[in-house]
Amino acid sequence: MNPCPVPLLFEDSRPGRRCLRVDGDDLDAARAGLPESELRREPVPLPESGELDLLRHFTRLSELNYAITTNFYPLGSCTMKYNPVVHEAIAADRRWTGVHPLQDGDETQGALAVMRGLERMLAELTGLPAVSLHPAAGAQGELTALMVLRAWLVENGDDARRTILVPDSAHGTNPASCTLAGFAVKTVRSDERGLTDLDHLRELLGPDTAGLMITNPNTLGLFEEDIRVICDLVHEAGGRVYMDGANFNAIVGVARPGDFGVDMMHLNLHKTFSTPHGGGGPGAGPICVTAELEPYLPVPRVVEREDGTLALSEDAPRSIGRLRAFHGNFGVLLRAYAYLVRLGARGVRRVAENAVLNANYLRVQVREKWRVPFDRTCMHEFVARPTREMREQGVHTVDVAKRLIERGYHPPTVYFPLVVPEAIMIEPTETESRETLDGFAAAMAEIADEALRGDEALHEAPRNTPVGRVDEARAVKRPILRWRPDAEG
Ligand SMILES: Cc1ncc(COP(=O)(O)O)c(C=O)c1O
Repeated sequence: MNPCPVPLLFEDSRPGRRCLRVDGDDLDAARAGLPESELRREPVPLPESGELDLLRHFTRLSELNYAITTNFYPLGSCTMKYNPVVHEAIAADRRWTGVHPLQDGDETQGALAVMRGLERMLAELTGLPAVSLHPAAGAQGELTALMVLRAWLVENGDDARRTILVPDSAHGTNPASCTLAGFAVKTVRSDERGLTDLDHLRELLGPDTAGLMITNPNTLGLFEEDIRVICDLVHEAGGRVYMDGANFNAIVGVARPGDFGVDMMHLNLHKTFSTPHGGGGPGAGPICVTAELEPYLPVPRVVEREDGTLALSEDAPRSIGRLRAFHGNFGVLLRAYAYLVRLGARGVRRVAENAVLNANYLRVQVREKWRVPFDRTCMHEFVARPTREMREQGVHTVDVAKRLIERGYHPPTVYFPLVVPEAIMIEPTETESRETLDGFAAAMAEIADEALRGDEALHEAPRNTPVGRVDEARAVKRPILRWRPDAEG
């Protein structure tokens, strides 16, 4: 008897409907052990449709989607820049997709060389010599590095150091990762410049300090000008400095965190190195650490054998162990490798220069009508908010976001960072043209005028989208997840 029941198509009693079922012996085998009361009496009523209707349905759905390939996407902190199409072709090449992670190392020298090459380039760009490509996202990189730090502390008899200091301008994943890794979090205040308050930092440092976790440039889009002093203070107190390097696109090729005292950092390949954005995955959040912390990195690691060939090695007795199955999201690593090889040293530097130029070009236009709380040269992004006069008209950031949707723009990140009430966090990225930036600035200026007039349109937007203004709190608590034909746009 076939141990695996084979589904067969059959006509059910309703004319024109065909369903899946198993038959004969296979049916008996499939039923064995299942209580009679649980067996279906009727075939499953799956939706039926012709190929053309199905194609139209999915094409229509894809057109409802908003993407960087259709319009501007200034989502602060998320770096929605253009990913060159050629990288997709490279990653889709069967010579890469056909490689299996359990294949013998002698047959996968090319893939190992890509991993090794990417590690070397990231080490060079960050000034931190040891790299692990394993983490699948920025937040997983944070957790991995904190586990590395913990292993280092334990080995040095410093296990009592259980506190990580986190500035209030840090990305939200930073304190979350600390908690997940078993550390307590103490928040360091920002000062009037929007930067880490050095006096408060000094106050909080102590014998329990394991380290500092600092997002730099921070979530206000500002570079921590005192970063060297900050690193020295943490080192003097016996801790180590973790830099959230998700915003590395602002400084890549210009400054190296290892040179200004950082001990560990992660990079979001999907933000800086132009790989697809994860939406939770697949992404890649490699970590880069000092030589002192290298022995604790996850395994396996790519090593060079005496004959010059490459291999994956698990021979690292002090390693925190395996982080995940296999060796990271290889297709994502490959795209980042291709990006770096194509750009070269000068091209990489231009990424940062243009990211900063574009952000500042937009900032000086937006500040004409909006409030920019920390209004000075920013890095890759900046934070604006409605003015007092607009708020007096009852206009909130959510209204601005919705009105932008109506005008064809993806809204910026809103209500984050928390240190700015009603925040509108704008990141244009380096891949946008001047015309696009001017168009967005004009839209923001017109929305500002509407806000000052108290225009009702602001509260009603978006009126031209399949789904209008929703009660967001209710939508989160009571989402409608079932398909309803009548709800189709
Ligand atoms: C500054 C910063 N840190 C950390 C993260 C977390 O990265 P991921 O979403 O890949 O987990 C992000 C995400 O955009 C970020 O902007």
